[in-house]
Amino acid sequence: MALPVKPYLQHVSLHPEAGFDLDAYPYTIPAVRELDRIDFHPDVTFFVGENGAGKSTVLEAIALALGHSPEGGTRNMRIATTDSVSDLHESLRLARGFRQPRDQFFLRAESFFNVATYVDETGYLGGYDNRSLHERSHGEAFMALLTHKFRGQGLYLLDEPEAALSPNRQLAALSAIHQLVQDQSQFIIATHSPILLSYPNARILLFDGTGITEVAYEETEHYAVTRDFLNHYPRRLEQLLADD
Ligand SMILES: Nc1ncnc2c1ncn2[C@@H]1O[C@H](COP(=O)(O)OP(=O)(O)OP(=O)(O)O)[C@@H](O)[C@H]1O
Ligand SMILES: [Mg+2]
Repeated sequence: MALPVKPYLQHVSLHPEAGFDLDAYPYTIPAVRELDRIDFHPDVTFFVGENGAGKSTVLEAIALALGHSPEGGTRNMRIATTDSVSDLHESLRLARGFRQPRDQFFLRAESFFNVATYVDETGYLGGYDNRSLHERSHGEAFMALLTHKFRGQGLYLLDEPEAALSPNRQLAALSAIHQLVQDQSQFIIATHSPILLSYPNARILLFDGTGITEVAYEETEHYAVTRDFLNHYPRRLEQLLADD
């Protein structure tokens, strides 16, 4: 029987022998403190939750454990960083699949500019229309990566990719993600986008004060709040903007 190509990353857990300082970042974050084991969907795993719930902290730690630099990019990109990074990656135990991904990319929301510079300097997007990523808008640059650089059979870690994208481009991103999934790719995506979250071949993990739990799309705040607001926005605005 042929071995499955995916998932490249099966699960991640906290090393049981690691000594944690539960009073210090990042172990003060409930999702990290309670991080027992995260099982990844072979196609797409979403991290959702309130601002500050720990999604980026965990995603970044997974990326570092996979050999990325904190600023992101491919594993070969070594971009100097001034950001403080938690040592969580040292306490993570990764369970990899049978095969190595052919392609691997970590897109960190805050450092796209630095990644774009690196991509330009190294000719990483070589062969694709030779225009600098800096000469494109944020969303255009991201779509160029997604549709022209990600080659498939890849493991892609994306932190809030929607930050760059118009609603239409988020729909286009869904379709590009689906193409890559069909081409044996696996994604882990931290997002607030109710559009991206609708992707069906996925597991949605909610980070909150109790830890990390799986939820259905319709159970997410992103779906419920957006839907309620758009359906009733005159009334909701009245309530929100009322003088009391
Ligand atoms: N270097 C750091 N030192 C101390 N605390 C930090 C550090 N980086 C982040 N934190 C704290 O850790 C918590 C989790 O941050 P994180 O960036 O992981 O949240 P998030 O879920 O990605 O939020 P968002 O949706 O706003 O991106 C926050 O309360 C944040 O203030
Ligand atoms: Mg974040």
